[in-house]
Amino acid sequence: MRSISTFAILIATAISLAANPAFTIDATHSAGKVSPKLYGLMTEEINHAYDGGLYAELIQNRAFLDDAKSPVNWSVVKDDSSAATIALDPANPLNDKIPTSLRLTVTQATKDHPAGVANSGYWGIPVHPKTQYRASLWARAEAGFSGSLTVSIVSDDGRTIYASEKISGLTAEWQKFEVTLKTSDVTPTAQARFAITLDQPGTINLGLVSLFPPTWNDRPNGLRKDIMQMLVDLNPKFLRFPGGNYVEGNKIEDRFPWAKTLGPIEDRPGHACCWGYRSSDGMGLLEFLEWCEDMKAEPLLAVYAGYSLEGEHVKAGPELEPFVKEALDEIEYVIGDTNTTWGARRAKDGHPAPFTLNYVEIGNEDGFDNSHSYDGRFAQFHDAIKAKYPQLKLISTIPSAPLDGRKPDVEDRHDYSSTENFIKKSGNYGADIKRNGPEVFVGEWAAHEETSVPPWNEGSHKLAPTPTMKAAIGDGVFMAAMERNSDIIKMQCYAPLLVNVNPGARQWRPDLIGYDALSAYGSPSYYAIQMFSRNVGDEILPVTFSGTSVQGCATRDSQTGEIIIKLVNPELTPQSLPIEIKGVSSLASKATVITLSANPEDTNSIRRPRNVVPVTTTLSSVKPGFIFTMPPDSVVVLKLKTR
Ligand code: AHR
Repeated sequence: MRSISTFAILIATAISLAANPAFTIDATHSAGKVSPKLYGLMTEEINHAYDGGLYAELIQNRAFLDDAKSPVNWSVVKDDSSAATIALDPANPLNDKIPTSLRLTVTQATKDHPAGVANSGYWGIPVHPKTQYRASLWARAEAGFSGSLTVSIVSDDGRTIYASEKISGLTAEWQKFEVTLKTSDVTPTAQARFAITLDQPGTINLGLVSLFPPTWNDRPNGLRKDIMQMLVDLNPKFLRFPGGNYVEGNKIEDRFPWAKTLGPIEDRPGHACCWGYRSSDGMGLLEFLEWCEDMKAEPLLAVYAGYSLEGEHVKAGPELEPFVKEALDEIEYVIGDTNTTWGARRAKDGHPAPFTLNYVEIGNEDGFDNSHSYDGRFAQFHDAIKAKYPQLKLISTIPSAPLDGRKPDVEDRHDYSSTENFIKKSGNYGADIKRNGPEVFVGEWAAHEETSVPPWNEGSHKLAPTPTMKAAIGDGVFMAAMERNSDIIKMQCYAPLLVNVNPGARQWRPDLIGYDALSAYGSPSYYAIQMFSRNVGDEILPVTFSGTSVQGCATRDSQTGEIIIKLVNPELTPQSLPIEIKGVSSLASKATVITLSANPEDTNSIRRPRNVVPVTTTLSSVKPGFIFTMPPDSVVVLKLKTR
């Protein structure tokens, strides 16, 4: 078998331009195993990825803690003949975890002229036809009020009531009330809000208020179905969570507070998210793990490692011990037996069976830590985790760092680059990776159409939230490079994954999947990744490409013998590409071709969700040597059956 380093040299040699274009696949032997976990997802709370995104909760500021001074996102409902006021009421907290509530005082109201409070959700409450919504709220009444509350989903102008139910029986004590709201055969809209009204004067307090549409697998604290379907369609093998920057927080106290994200949602205060808004923590540790289960993906858990974004860090040694313990406890929650403290807590939370966990990442992008304390911190986490869980593979966030003599099992390399750069470097990519060194995880990467405006910069808000076909070309060549090197690049995931496209919701561009309250769409990059992740064999086949700007990779399914070729044409013209497959005497004459091709500036959006999508066709007269015409600006998957 030819060694991988020979393979890398072959590619390097091949891309020096030759006169005649050629794409050659050597099927006489495999250059290594394709990592079965190559394609995964990276996720964190950014761009309202969870709150106002995947996490299906529809009420924004449901615990009234988003702003300490006012009940943001809540407004008074009244008309000319009714009156009410609202205010935060920390003197009447819901409980010790949620130390405030909303006080609603209705001074004038009748059945025909109710008054109350409304929540406009995350840029609108989505109204879908014939749909059941689960509304729940905690409420108490001041003495003198014995009437009922009306909870409803109503149009923004108040004229159309899409669904409505009554709640009665309020007392001076906090109680939880739950109702189902059913819509009829209405036209979908997000110009709606959730209202709680009284038809007589009175004062009540509202605690945590929640509204859920149907969720994926009907989980009560679950995920939005349309976005989940898009994620499942990517066939992910792992999920990296909870960050990214989100695991670190701006300050140490803002790190992902996994232990406070467990249990009933009325016990979750949320925390300040580093991307400029408060996270409800409805998406807690258990929800992340169940999300993995629902996608049949494995969790790749990032633990807080003592460094936060504004530069605070914890010195290795005794000061770091509580944080190491926090990480050990977190891992115990994920995989501990039910006779351990945190395993028992997981069972109490409804999941007695331990989850599968193989990879733990120590921190995130610790190269930004100017105190250079990562060596010591990594070593301390490494030793403690390995002592208790020797089977876990530990990921370092600084590639090729000394790490106080500890060798990480895996190194995380992040790579955000322009399409031009990816085209330039992908042909040779991987040649420098030592095959006897740590495994490589490309834990964040994305091609950007251009890099003059940083992704987090205000200026990027003028651009569409999701990338164009031009970026998909950069993504395509880079994925081909990673697949060619997937004997050592064991995992990779694009970032960021999700973006709420409403103005004000976004902190970063470009992002893979866009959505508003009503619908979601995939960018051309989403479809390029889907084409790669859903069509991959288990053996890497060496390829050489010369005399052409087309780049690509090839794998074989050892069970079926199918050869899967991926090609990317960055040119604006078609390219006639002679493809030769060495070591195969006969191929089925018909092959499946999946093509994503569009102008560089073409893209998808909420209004045109399927403007750029892959098309599947059949190719005839396929032989071990044949000429394939690559469409302009395209990513192509060819599936060839051997005979
Ligand atoms: O993907 C967006 C951010 O980019 C991540 O939070 C961080 O790890 C990286 O710098």
